[in-house]
Amino acid sequence: MTTYREAIEKITGHPVAIVQTGTLFEIKPFPGANTTNRIVARFYMQVFPACCGACISYGAAVYAPYLNKGLGKLLNKMRIQLAHDCRRKLIICTDVEKNTHQQKILKANGWQKATSWLNPRSHNDVGLHYRVTGDTGMQIGMVDHTTMNPLHIP
Ligand SMILES: CC(C)(COP(=O)(O)OP(=O)(O)OC[C@H]1O[C@@H](n2cnc3c(N)ncnc32)[C@H](O)[C@@H]1OP(=O)(O)O)[C@@H](O)C(=O)NCCC(=O)NCCS
Repeated sequence: MTTYREAIEKITGHPVAIVQTGTLFEIKPFPGANTTNRIVARFYMQVFPACCGACISYGAAVYAPYLNKGLGKLLNKMRIQLAHDCRRKLIICTDVEKNTHQQKILKANGWQKATSWLNPRSHNDVGLHYRVTGDTGMQIGMVDHTTMNPLHIP
């Protein structure tokens, strides 16, 4: 069965490592990969304070030259699997409403918009989105991500 890591590698064209440092997850060219790029993408995930059954996804970014090749959408789906693997039944994120590519990604991966509001601090229209997690049918492919304790499962 194809893993997310293998699906990422099909897009990047070189081997990658999925590296977790606390709440930060980075997709990096695997040491020795034939590229001078130092990073492919990153995102943060952490448990929702006050509810261990939910988690928050934020700070997702794909770096040039890997943009607009489907990685944003794929990594968003991978986060749903990661949350599912960690027994977090709900995943939550906010997004600036004018970020059209992110809206497309959320819609394609079955996220629902709970509400939106004008952030009085940033003056951005912001949406709050959620997705009930579940098995996406593809495993992550991190090197033993259970011992890496994703999302700090107790
Ligand atoms: C948002 C982001 C992660 C998307 O990454 P990506 O790998 O380029 O996204 P994808 O290739 O999966 O594309 C997703 C959709 O956005 C569309 N898209 C991508 N780049 C686009 C652009 N510059 N203008 C308009 N649409 C664009 C794609 O066509 C695709 O839509 P489709 O499925 O209808 O074809 C990336 O643009 C990014 O890092 N942006 C800066 C940080 C950010 O906004 N993060 C999200 C909020 S936390």
